[in-house]
Amino acid sequence: MLKDKRIILGVTGGIAAYKAVELLRLLTKSGADVHVIMTRSAREFVTPLTFQTLSANPVHTELFSLIAERDIGHITLADRADLLIIAPATANIIGKIASGIADDMLSTTVMATKAPVLIAPAMNVNMYTNPVYRENEEKLRRFGYLFVPPEQGTLACGWEGEGKLAAPESIFEAAVAALSPRDLVGQTILITAGPTREELDPVRFITNHSSGKMGYALARTAQRRGARVILVSGPVSLPAPNGVELKPVVSADEMLTAVMARAGECTVIIKAAAVADYRPLTRSGQKIKKKGDELSLRFVKTADILARLGSLADRPYLVGFAAETDNLKTFAGKKLHEKNADMIVANDISRSDAGFHVDTNHAVLLFRDGRETECPLMSKDDLAAVILDHIVSEL
Ligand code: PMT
Repeated sequence: MLKDKRIILGVTGGIAAYKAVELLRLLTKSGADVHVIMTRSAREFVTPLTFQTLSANPVHTELFSLIAERDIGHITLADRADLLIIAPATANIIGKIASGIADDMLSTTVMATKAPVLIAPAMNVNMYTNPVYRENEEKLRRFGYLFVPPEQGTLACGWEGEGKLAAPESIFEAAVAALSPRDLVGQTILITAGPTREELDPVRFITNHSSGKMGYALARTAQRRGARVILVSGPVSLPAPNGVELKPVVSADEMLTAVMARAGECTVIIKAAAVADYRPLTRSGQKIKKKGDELSLRFVKTADILARLGSLADRPYLVGFAAETDNLKTFAGKKLHEKNADMIVANDISRSDAGFHVDTNHAVLLFRDGRETECPLMSKDDLAAVILDHIVSEL
């Protein structure tokens, strides 16, 4: 996700400095080349060796280090950065940046960079609410600096309140958003994800293998790119992506009601959910008892949500998925026209590395004018980005 991105991680002196180690791990895991700068006080809390080992890059500590300046100077570091993150950021470093002070490696690099700067403050609640601090933060926000606000909680100093460094996952999410194009601003995108459950009795239900990963990847990526996202999700065990409006549903009927209620406010709808095509004709109020050697059940068709959307007079841009085990393009093409969608993402669920549950997918995108785009095996996050790129150019 952050492949080939060069990120400077500035660590300042606070007890939360140890959490920057976890942030570094998230950044490197997603492919970023991370260069750490530590202030003198940060080194009182965590050793540079920890950051150096995990980043596989030398840690910068001194502005006037002859060796470090010869190998890669602070201006070169600032010039080459795609993003500069300061986590944890003390009131001191924020005050220095707001006042234009550049007297150490970190503050000088911040002053010299043209890359976006993302600040994750962590401090005592009284410092955080101090009018001097508030004015500094507001000033930096006006200049375009990005902030990940601290959380509420018990602070290291014993006080309760706002000031706890945001979770490394939230800072990581903000970093990915800062590096994403903002090409979906102004769009409202409804995405369906996960399976539906059709109950037979209070104990049993019919469902499928959908984990929700594909739909959640689309929701996360669309939100990072600036869209307002409504995620209508069947029962899954994934956390709701940051900043997304989650509408949990269980059955195909509930999904139909939730989608149709919001369709009018959407510019795009993406149907990645694996919706049951049939549900039991009746739901028994009591547990169905074991009787003979065989059991027959009667099923009725559920409403086809995508087809309903396709028949709306003034409909949003419609993307459907096709999960096929054979004749991928033929069956997917049929669905594209029968359901009156604008694009179908056809995935071959007979492959072990595509479709249900896995983190990767392999798909072909089919369009109404006969165009086709083959997408080789990639992560579901990457496929989500490709699908959204196409939506942006189609809109
Ligand atoms: O959730 P994951 O584990 O990440 O797996 C991802 C996925 C395999 C579920 C996803 O990539 C996918 O293929 N989703 C669509 C699955 C499906 O139901 O396909 P289908 O070919 O049966 O349906 C075609 C389209 O009609 C789909 O967009 C579906 O949402 C829609 N549909 C189907 C039935 C119905 N009653 N209403 C619908 O809207």
